[in-house]
Amino acid sequence: MQHSALRQAITDGEQHLRPVLAEAQFQRYVEVGLALRAAFRTPALRDVFIDRLKPHRRLVAGTLPAGIQRHGMLPPQTPPRSLADIPDAELAQWLVDDGRLIYGEFTPLELDHYFTAVAPWLPERGQGPGHFIDLGSGLGKVVLTAALALPGMRCSGVELLGYRHEMAQARLQAMLAAGDPQEAGAIAARVQLRQQDMFEADVSDASLVYLYSTCFAPLMERLAEKLARELAPGALVSTTTVPLPHPAFELLQRFDPPSVAWTTVFLYRLRGSSAVAPAPARALYEPDGAAWEAAVRAAFAAHDAEQGA
Ligand SMILES: C[S@@+](CC[C@H](N)C(=O)[O-])C[C@H]1O[C@@H](n2cnc3c(N)ncnc32)[C@H](O)[C@@H]1O
Repeated sequence: MQHSALRQAITDGEQHLRPVLAEAQFQRYVEVGLALRAAFRTPALRDVFIDRLKPHRRLVAGTLPAGIQRHGMLPPQTPPRSLADIPDAELAQWLVDDGRLIYGEFTPLELDHYFTAVAPWLPERGQGPGHFIDLGSGLGKVVLTAALALPGMRCSGVELLGYRHEMAQARLQAMLAAGDPQEAGAIAARVQLRQQDMFEADVSDASLVYLYSTCFAPLMERLAEKLARELAPGALVSTTTVPLPHPAFELLQRFDPPSVAWTTVFLYRLRGSSAVAPAPARALYEPDGAAWEAAVRAAFAAHDAEQGA
């Protein structure tokens, strides 16, 4: 297969070891996370855990917040604050932050399907090279696959977490080393990986924005507003699982599973300048309270059994 050595360099690493979050910018996240994790693990605090989280369960991807589970990135220490001292608004924001830090990605085959599916909508070559941007680019695999699938197009990734950005850069170097120098040079000139908050990223010249948005539901309105404001008319945006809630975007195609991937992929185009005002906020999926609580209590029991309690 064409580019097979380069493609090989993009695979693996999805089960990577998550380091403990140590950067100062995550201090509040760590503090709240430690308080929640302690409440989850301490039988006397479990009713409080349920009472505090239940009103916000729509912000939790699954039963328990990812950050307090074994694969979370919290350090092994006692919490400096107790859950009772954490205001409700801070807890809700923590859940949003926690969800967006979840790592997930498409398989190489799903990415092949994706680039084949969006190809008919991409700008013609004569209209300039185009710019593909992955917002929340994780380990960089989508950006690097794009560099192979979209010849000539600039391909950028924007990732918040330093360790993921570094893994993406190492992957890019490995990929470049696997190609012949001329091919590697041409790819290196088109690929850019940045450590940055996606809300601060310049997307104004993007022709296709990729969002692996499965865990971004509470962020989607803010993201849609940024994209509607900053992209040029005609620019494309694809999302996974969660639609883009803004009338400035027209839905071009909805790819239901398993046609492209395990989840739905939505492809949108920004309409012309007559964009309408944003639609009122829509309620997110709200899991049933009793079912959620039963699942959490089962998770307590599973935790205790694991500890031999
Ligand atoms: C579900 S992963 C997807 C990774 C990659 N796009 C892929 O599909 O393989 C989402 C990524 O978005 C990153 N992220 C979350 N919030 C972000 C933000 N505000 N700015 C930049 N990256 C962010 C997370 O750290 C995570 O690596």
